[in-house]
Amino acid sequence: MEAHLLEWLNLVIRWVHVIVGIAWIGASFYFVWLENNLDRQVKNQDLAGELWAIHGGGIYHLQKYKLAPATMPKHLHWFKWEAYSSWISGVLLLSVVYYLNAATYLILPGSPVSPAAGVAIGLGSLIIGWYVYDFLCKSALRHQPLLLGVALMVSLVLVAWGFSQFMTGRAAYLHVGAVIGTMMVGNVFFIIMPAQRNLVGAIEAGTAPDPALPKNGLLRSRHNNYLTLPVIFIMVSSHFPSTYGHEWSWVILLGLSLVSVAVRHYFNTRHNSQQFLWALPAAVLALLVMAYVTVPQVPGSSAAKSSEEIAVVEPVTAQQAHDIVATHCASCHSATPSHAAFSTAPAGLMFDSIDEIKRYKDRIYLQSVASRIMPLGNSTGMTQDERDQLGRWIADGANTQ
Ligand code: HEC
Repeated sequence: MEAHLLEWLNLVIRWVHVIVGIAWIGASFYFVWLENNLDRQVKNQDLAGELWAIHGGGIYHLQKYKLAPATMPKHLHWFKWEAYSSWISGVLLLSVVYYLNAATYLILPGSPVSPAAGVAIGLGSLIIGWYVYDFLCKSALRHQPLLLGVALMVSLVLVAWGFSQFMTGRAAYLHVGAVIGTMMVGNVFFIIMPAQRNLVGAIEAGTAPDPALPKNGLLRSRHNNYLTLPVIFIMVSSHFPSTYGHEWSWVILLGLSLVSVAVRHYFNTRHNSQQFLWALPAAVLALLVMAYVTVPQVPGSSAAKSSEEIAVVEPVTAQQAHDIVATHCASCHSATPSHAAFSTAPAGLMFDSIDEIKRYKDRIYLQSVASRIMPLGNSTGMTQDERDQLGRWIADGANTQ
């Protein structure tokens, strides 16, 4: 029952998180696009630019002011709750998925870090991450955008590496995403909103607004624009075990992030120049290289051994394969899971009979032979020898007799 309730709690929070996340990122993308596409050749001296667009059957005329209109409009739309609610729902989801069952989902099997300490480090890193980022942005590096970017990247790589030392692959990735997401929402809360409030306040008081604040706000919203792409990958990364389950998971994450930032940069600059066109073929090449280096390696299985060695290895029988799966997987992956945390088979996968095991052999292979993602948290203590046996049974054609 408790497991069932948790699943629905997960469902509701995740649903909200995705919806408000789309609203936030959608608005962010739209305004960056607007900035890039403004017609700057406007006659009105108060305007920075304007844009005509058609959408949903109507024609829109948008104007951006250099600073502000002479009188304040009655209704001014602010975009902040999209960001705040993304963060709040994100932290709740992090808690439901990773913290309520920290021993299984958060902590790497065999790590000396206790679940409680893991949760504390996870949450603490969100807060510390913001302060480090904000410090870097205000340091001397603020005049050197490229150096600032490199410093940020190095810090995040260190964070990703640090997490991967004691968290499961999925949790480590997700926490890097949460650290970046917190930086982004911090930008909205601490930098962009105060700048906007100053602007509006000055107009209402009839004084001159501080021109430095909106400039800073625009810079941070640019940062957010670049950071969005890695974050979105991270949020869906749990579908891709060859990334988070890889020995060098943090390097793969760095590679994917660089690819996304480079592509984003091309799209952000292509209106002014095609200077970064190379980013597109480079991204394709980088993705191919990463797909290649993450090809599953199977230590000890027949695929990795010479034919001479195979001859002396006994073939693994269907009974042996079934026994291994029954011992290590079926407490969760069953029509009737005995594991307290699950009321239904996780991911809908049931491995009760040898035929079911055979049907899912490729996914089983990826999760528990090519990587050690399953059993979750290695709660059943599956040995390397058992993984090798399962791998050999699959490699030899998964006979069911
Ligand atoms: C403690 C419970 C538990 C045990 C034991 C367990 N799993 Fe899982 N398994 C899960 C959960 C939870 C998921 C769903 C993960 C997710 O949210 O995507 C899952 C997902 C999977 C998936 C689907 C992943 C995908 O995206 O394709 C496969 C395959 C899998 N497990 C195989 C195994 C195998 C093989 C074993 C035994 C060697 C095993 N599991 C043992 C809990 C468990």
